[in-house]
This record gives sequence, structure tokens and C-alpha cells, in this order.
Amino acid sequence: MEVYKALRIATVFTFLIAGIVPNIQAECEDYSPCACGQDANGNLYVNCINVLPVDIQSAFSRTTALDIYSLVLILPEGGGNIPADLLSGKRALIIDLLGTDRDLFQLIMDPAALRSSSSYTKQLVISKCDLSLLDFDFLRGFSRLEELRLDSASNIKPIENLPPLTSLVGLAIDNSQGFEALTNFPARAFSSLNHLYFYNDELNDQAIDIILNAFVTSTSANTLATLTLSKNQITRVPSQVLSLPNILNFALNNNNISLINTGAFSLTAPNKIYLNNVSLDTIEPGAFQGDYSFAEIDLSNNNLASFDYSVFQPILVQMAGIANSTGTVYLTKNPFSCDCGLAWLIRDNPNLLKATSGGTCANSTTFEDLNPGGYLNC
Ligand SMILES: *[C@@H]1O[C@H](CO)[C@@H](O)[C@H](O)[C@H]1NC(C)=O
Ligand SMILES: *[C@@H]1O[C@H](CO)[C@@H](O)[C@H](O)[C@H]1NC(C)=O
Ligand SMILES: *[C@@H]1O[C@H](CO)[C@@H](O)[C@H](O)[C@H]1NC(C)=O
Ligand SMILES: *[C@@H]1O[C@H](CO)[C@@H](O)[C@H](O)[C@H]1NC(C)=O
Repeated sequence: MEVYKALRIATVFTFLIAGIVPNIQAECEDYSPCACGQDANGNLYVNCINVLPVDIQSAFSRTTALDIYSLVLILPEGGGNIPADLLSGKRALIIDLLGTDRDLFQLIMDPAALRSSSSYTKQLVISKCDLSLLDFDFLRGFSRLEELRLDSASNIKPIENLPPLTSLVGLAIDNSQGFEALTNFPARAFSSLNHLYFYNDELNDQAIDIILNAFVTSTSANTLATLTLSKNQITRVPSQVLSLPNILNFALNNNNISLINTGAFSLTAPNKIYLNNVSLDTIEPGAFQGDYSFAEIDLSNNNLASFDYSVFQPILVQMAGIANSTGTVYLTKNPFSCDCGLAWLIRDNPNLLKATSGGTCANSTTFEDLNPGGYLNC
């Protein structure tokens, strides 16, 4: 019965890790060749592994339960053409639809493929599919859909035609390809998106501009709180973030951003900023502006040699000024030169060290171990 646990897709989005079955409590109706389990609350879990759509349809037409809690479909090769009314009038709260290969598995959905779930489904994951022939109109009218994730997909261009999804809170696209073909992004399909997640999608600056320009002119510009652009091919901090007034968490880690300009992070009151492992060597004065009292900034794994007053003093003062603040600048794995350029911190403001973490000189001495007396002649 562990199979039901294993098959819920592990995901970067904690809110998508719903419905792990702690114990299978009772037998279900016969969904064969799909498998079924039920948890202590009576939630139904149905997994169809290597089952052709026509056999999924007949399993659901045979059974009587209307509401499925979690439905996992791992389609067999050649099973990528989903007909109308796949679930024979039944509906599922969480749907995971998996092909077998990002490059070889063509997903085609009849516009009515999942219509019986349209006013019910809250989370949908599509994984390991080539989307070039997918008509996203099958999602028209999905009025309760909160989370949509495309994982390991290729040829994602059809997403340009996503229909309105007015309840959508989070959109995640990861390990996917084909963004270079995008000419627009369907930000207007969302009323008030809270988080937007692009991880390992080979996105370059041009693709980021197309996506974020669409967002800053949409109503979600005012609701977006989390923006993740990690592990892509970005070379500059996207300026559109300045037009997202409620952004709290902004991840740019594992890109290639050697320079951060003045005002690039002029944000209202950020919480977490990830800039680790971006080949960063230069930060201009005033790069970080706003209320940084509770901000955590990760600058680890970069090429920073200087730790300048004009960049860091104002935000460290904010962080250190609040007794229980989690505000910290993380600095491990940077080759800091601990010359007179550090006198402002080590000699003049040692109280601000507590808002830093992991600062280490190129010669391996930690900031905390530096002797203020060594800076008297600076
Ligand atoms: C840092 O990024 C490079 C590619 O830019 C990658 O090869 C490397 O694995 C990353 N390192 C860490 C610690 O994430
Ligand atoms: C980062 O960009 C620089 C040019 O700005 C380039 O020389 C370097 O190879 C890039 N590094 C990676 C890991 O892509
Ligand atoms: C920090 O202290 C303030 C005021 O004492 C309090 O309102 C707040 O809940 C505290 N925050 C945390 C994270 O402990
Ligand atoms: C490293 O450099 C700092 C600053 O110049 C110096 O105070 C410290 O003694 C050096 N540590 C070692 C182990 O050489």
C-alpha cells in the first residue's frame, strides 16, 4: 500500500504535497486495472499506471463514487490522446497527469477531457510530456483551480492560450523547455496570483522579459509575493520586480549575474532574496533599498571580494536594530579581501556583525575572528 505514498509527486511546492495516505483503511470499489486506496477520512486515491485512456474511462463508468481525492495517471506510451469525459462524469480534487518522456510523449486533450472536474479540481500537475499539440482549452471553466504545475514539459508555447483561471494562486513550470518560442505570457488569465515559479527552464533575459512584462501589466502585479527564477540563464536582475509592490520572496540563485546595479532591489519589505551561486562580483552602492529589517539575503557561493559600507551598512543597521529579527546577510564561500575596506564594520560597527553570517576572508579568517586593532591605521 506504500505505492500510494510513493506516487504522489514530490514537489518543490509544499502545498502540492497534499493527500499522502497515512494508512489505507478500507477497500474501495473495483477500479481495476487502476488501483484504489482510501484513507482514514474516507478520501479516495486512484492510481492508473500504464492504463490506456479507454480503460480508465470504463473503470470510472463502472464505479459509483463521484469524488476522488487524488488521481494519478501515468499514461502508457501511445496513450497521450485523452478523449472527452475521461472520468465518465466523476471528478478529482488533485490530478497528476504524467506522460513518459518530455521529448517523445505527445499530450493531446479533448477540450472536454476533464470537464466533469471543472468546478472541483484544485491542483493539477502535468509532467513528462511534449505539449506542442496541447490545446489548453481543456482547462476552460476550471473555476476552483488553485495550483497548476508543468514539470518536465517540452514545447510549452501553447500555454500562451491558457484560458482564464480566476482562482489560481500558484503557477510552477520547472525542468521545461521551449520558452524561446514564446511571444507573450498569459498573465491576464490570473486574477491574483501569489506565487510564480520557474526552475531550471533554460530561461534567458529575453524570455524573462516577455513573462514579467505580462505580469507587471496584469492584476497579479499587486498580489505576487513569491517569484522564483532559479537555475536559468539570467544575466541581470529583472527590472520588472520593481513593479511588484508586494513581493516578499525573490529567488535568482544559480544564474549568471555578475553585477547588481544601484536600486536593483528597491523593494517594499522583502523577506527572502536568493542570490547565491550567480557568479556575482560587483554590487553597486544602494543596490538594496526599502525595509530590510526582516530580510534574509543569500549571497553565498559568489566571487565577492569587497563588502562595502555603501551597499551593506544601511540594511545591516535595519536588521541589527530589531531584537528578534531573522534579518541576515549570508556570505559563505566568497573570497573577501579583508583589507581597510572592512574597517567600517570590524573597527567601527562590530555590532552589525550579528546580522551577517559566514563572512570569511580569502585567507580563511572569519569576519568574527578579525582583530579590530588591525584596522587602526586604516
Ligand atoms: C552553481 O552554478 C553552476 C552553474 O552556473 C553549477 O554548475 C553549480 O553546480 C552550482 N553550484 C551550486 C553549489 O549550486
Ligand atoms: C557567465 O557569463 C559570463 C559573461 O558575462 C561568461 O563568460 C561565463 O562563461 C558565464 N558563466 C556561466 C557559468 O555560464
Ligand atoms: C518580535 O518581537 C515583536 C515585538 O516584541 C513581536 O510582536 C513579534 O511577534 C516578534 N517576532 C518574532 C518572529 O518573534
Ligand atoms: C587574514 O587577513 C586578515 C586581514 O588582513 C589578517 O588580520 C589575518 O591575520 C589573516 N589571517 C591569516 C591566517 O593569515
